[in-house]
Amino acid sequence: MGKDSTRNAPEHVAIIMDGNGRWAQARGKPRLFGHHAGAKRVREILEACPEQGVKYLTIFAFSTENWKRTQTEVSGLMKLFKRYLTHETKALVEAGVCVRFIGDRIRLDENLVALMDELELLTCHNTKVNLTVALNYGGRDEVARATKRLAREVAAGKIDPESVDAETLARFLDTYVLPDPDLVIRTSGEARISNFLLWQSAYSEYEFIDTLWPDFTRDEFARVLAGYTNRERRFGAVPG
Ligand code: IPE
Ligand code: IPE
Ligand code: MG
Repeated sequence: MGKDSTRNAPEHVAIIMDGNGRWAQARGKPRLFGHHAGAKRVREILEACPEQGVKYLTIFAFSTENWKRTQTEVSGLMKLFKRYLTHETKALVEAGVCVRFIGDRIRLDENLVALMDELELLTCHNTKVNLTVALNYGGRDEVARATKRLAREVAAGKIDPESVDAETLARFLDTYVLPDPDLVIRTSGEARISNFLLWQSAYSEYEFIDTLWPDFTRDEFARVLAGYTNRERRFGAVPG
């Protein structure tokens, strides 16, 4: 593939990395084994982004509903996030990745939040690719938090309620600096969005694929992106 492979590439790809538990179960291993295997995939997919013309990659790592899992799984995941952030920092800085986190930090352990803040600060000048990690993220929760902040501004007399429109609210979302996702991919065969980027994906293309996240390779990613280039996006207008 030459330069043309980046023609009409989606600028922003968001991924619901699902299927770690089933991947582990199929091997007779505990669920956390699958989460570790899944974490390893992130680097490969992130590395593929610049060569595929993808400027923004957003990954769903932990939802506001994932606290419902067993304490063992939740604390194992939190440990994994800390380990991942510590070990990947150098590689992310060197690869020119700008890292951001979306989601509510209030419920996260303070050591994890410190690592998140540090990584954002260390990488905020990077421009090669933008990685956004959704951690304790839920679309409804994000809209509710945004509404609360907007309401405060209204109550303080800084915003005229009559002037509030969709753009006003979008400025209060965690994603205010990001373009909307062009393509949302979900692995593991489930065809639902599970509270991911509800507002932002209003006009996104969706790709639901059967592969479990720990088996998702750079080649399959390239195939999904190639399929996207054939889609016609209309945004409510008549076909052009
Ligand atoms: C996705 O894999 C990772 C997280 C939600 C943290 P799952 O853990 O949901 O894996 P399955 O869906 O049970 O196979
Ligand atoms: C969505 O997957 C959340 C993440 C991938 C982090 P889930 O496995 O939590 O979603 P449901 O429960 O199958 O809808
Ligand atoms: Mg799942």
